Amino acid sequence: MRIGLVVGNWKMNGGLASNAKLLARLADDWRGEVPRRLAVCVPAPYLAQTQAALGDSPVAWGVQDVSEHAAGAYTGEVSAAMAAEFGCRYAIVGHSERRRLHGESDLIVAAKAGAALDAGLVPIACVGEALAERERGETGRVVTRQVDALVAGLGDRVRECVVAYEPVWAIGTGRTATPAEAEDVHALLRKRLAEAGTGDVTLLYGGSVKAANAGSLFAMPDVDGALVGGASLDADEFLGIARA
Ligand code: PGA
Repeated sequence: MRIGLVVGNWKMNGGLASNAKLLARLADDWRGEVPRRLAVCVPAPYLAQTQAALGDSPVAWGVQDVSEHAAGAYTGEVSAAMAAEFGCRYAIVGHSERRRLHGESDLIVAAKAGAALDAGLVPIACVGEALAERERGETGRVVTRQVDALVAGLGDRVRECVVAYEPVWAIGTGRTATPAEAEDVHALLRKRLAEAGTGDVTLLYGGSVKAANAGSLFAMPDVDGALVGGASLDADEFLGIARA
């Protein structure tokens, strides 16, 4: 189902004191305003704190990664079921930082999305091309390969995912895709998903989204919301995006 959704990705940032302030602001200021839902994906050690701070609010929360395995000898990993025990609704999978720095393949990303679904979480599956790929005109080919792997791994269950288009060259660089560039890729992804029988998946854009540029991105017909990194650490900026 397509919903308006803004998700913060704190990445490896935060601390008990600064989290408490940020979470309290979100819990106090966000009234479940239509037409968007709001969520934050926090580092796993802060899930209990996040659950306590947001539990009674309309703000949802999640993790930034899950293991593709259900349980066992996987030192350092966090399972989707563990995240679910702390009230998580979402699990980001296949963020470009995980793909690039931790060698996660399309196959592993699809398996992680499956593990999240098995635990009752909504996977936010990330796709996106590197700068060199865009310059070679390969954007369509790359994101198609990534989304096809998700469809191949999940079958019908892909309809329960959120898909985030995050061009790697726009992440943390201050260089956002133009609304037209974002829409081109979102329209392609939606067409591809529709061919797989599920055209109404929620599609987020991510990469240097700020309060100042969110409105023009959200005005695009196939952009349903945003996955927000740096700007999600600042309550005013993050709430500004959610209300754009
Ligand atoms: P950014 O990150 O908003 O800081 O560019 C987005 C993301 O990596 O999810």
